[in-house]
Parts: sequence; C-alpha cells; structure tokens
Amino acid sequence: MSLLETKGLSINFGGIWAVDDVDFSIEPGQVFGLIGPNGSGKTTFLNIVSGIYKATKGKVFLNGEDITDLRPFEVFQKGISRTYQSSRLCWDLSVVDNLLIGSYTSQSYGFLDTIFRRNYVNHEIEKLAQHGLDMLSYFNPHLLDKRYELAKNIPHIDRRRIEISRAMVSHPKLLLLDEPTAGLNDEETMTMMRDIGKIKEKMQDIAIIIIEHDMKVMEHVPEKIIVLNAGAKIAEGVFDEIIHDPEVIAAYIGGQES
Ligand SMILES: Nc1ncnc2c1ncn2[C@@H]1O[C@H](COP(=O)(O)OP(=O)(O)OP(=O)(O)O)[C@@H](O)[C@H]1O
Ligand SMILES: [Mg+2]
Repeated sequence: MSLLETKGLSINFGGIWAVDDVDFSIEPGQVFGLIGPNGSGKTTFLNIVSGIYKATKGKVFLNGEDITDLRPFEVFQKGISRTYQSSRLCWDLSVVDNLLIGSYTSQSYGFLDTIFRRNYVNHEIEKLAQHGLDMLSYFNPHLLDKRYELAKNIPHIDRRRIEISRAMVSHPKLLLLDEPTAGLNDEETMTMMRDIGKIKEKMQDIAIIIIEHDMKVMEHVPEKIIVLNAGAKIAEGVFDEIIHDPEVIAAYIGGQES
C-alpha cells in the first residue's frame, strides 16, 4: 500500500481540465519532483491533495484511506503538510510565532485547558516551538538567534526555511513543497535543495513532493520526477530519462514563452 495514491485525479475549471486523470503514488521515504511548464496544474494538484480544492473526478488515498473529501485541516491532521508558492508568513509576527501557527491544528489541548491547565498548555507550546526551532537551526544555526525577529526582517531564503520548518512542526508523513526555490537566485536555489535533502537525513520515513518549474533544479534531489502538461501526467522517471523524453522536451519548448 502506498503512502499517498491518486487515481484518475481530475478537476475542471469552467470547461478546462486543470488536472486531468492523474495517477500517482509515493511511498514513505521517497522524494519526488513534480514539474511542468507554467499553468500545467502542479499547484492545483497539490491543492486537491491537501483538500483546498474538491476533485471533479478521481480519488486521493493516504495509507489506503480515502481522503478525497476531507477538509484541509483534516488532511493536515492525517499527516500531510505543505508550503505555498508565495510566502504565507505573517510579516509582523516573530519567527517563533510563525512556527507556532503551523502547529495550530495539531495541538493536543482545547480551550478549557488554556484556562484550567495552563502549565500543561505552556509546556505543549514550548515543545512545539522547540521542534520548529530545532528544524530551523538544522537548516541555519544562526536563525536561532533571530527567533524573536519579525518575519519581515528576515532574508528571503531564511523565510523559506521558516515556512518549511513550520510545515514540519506537526511531524508530517508527507511534505508538499510548492516551488520552495521561487524568488531565490541560483546559489540560494542550490542551498535550498540541499536543505530539503537534509530533511530526509533527519526524518528518514518522510515522503516529500517538490514542485518546480525549472527542470535543472530537479537534477539534485528527487528519486523520481513526474511531469505534468496541460493537467495531464506526460512522463514519470529519473532525471536522465525525463530530460531525454520527447514529449517533455516539446512541452517545455512549447511553454517557454509563458
Ligand atoms: N481556482 C481556479 N479557478 C480557475 N482556474 C484555475 C484555478 N486554479 C488554477 N486554475 C487554472 O488551472 C491551471 C493550472 O494552474 P496551476 O496554478 O495549477 O499551474 P502551475 O503548474 O502550478 O503553474 P506555475 O508554474 O505558474 O505555478 C491554470 O490554467 C490556472 O489558470
Ligand atoms: Mg504553481
């Protein structure tokens, strides 16, 4: 049984199939790249898997359980965590507060606990914050000193690290990263891909799907690459197979102007 499996996953927006009959599966510990030209359906695919969009057709299974119709926070509680293509940090909150926002629906306490069991709640919050900070300092030890800085004062690559660390606070089984290198220069992009590789060293069973539109970036991390074009899966394989695949080459050349 796969960790995540999609069968015939499809979504239609006003007559256009943004995701079109996609079969996909990933096992614990695997790192996959999801690539394709602009507008090929990569983000939409993640949005369906994470419960933000409802599939028009098809199913999503997590460890064999049908999660197609779950709401985003329920999908998150099942163990799928994600980052977004454009930053979702709260600029006027500190680094540590931003990390804690990621733990909101994985908290083990309720409203009454915050009144009657303050010590327990404080202890739980500290544990969650510590886990996020551990992850963050694993990427960049200097960030620990900046934990009370406002997010808006943090360099772009470190903001991306905060977003990934925040997604890790809940100990997900599957991490979905939507263009974690967006807005980074070439050197930062390589650093970011190394950072993502480090997640696997720390949490061997975690599965990761990395969205990227630049194929070159994929050379450095994933075991397998899935290529979408116009919503449909057109290829699946290792980097060397993908870069020589005529349909992939045509899709990328066709998409160059966008
Ligand atoms: N909520 C929506 N309503 C209507 N159309 C949408 C919606 N979300 C996405 N689309 C359309 O679905 C298609 C796929 O978009 P998507 O954002 O998934 O592409 P992408 O592969 O992530 O592209 P990029 O590399 O630019 O991020 C596009 O044509 C887009 O306009
Ligand atoms: Mg996208």
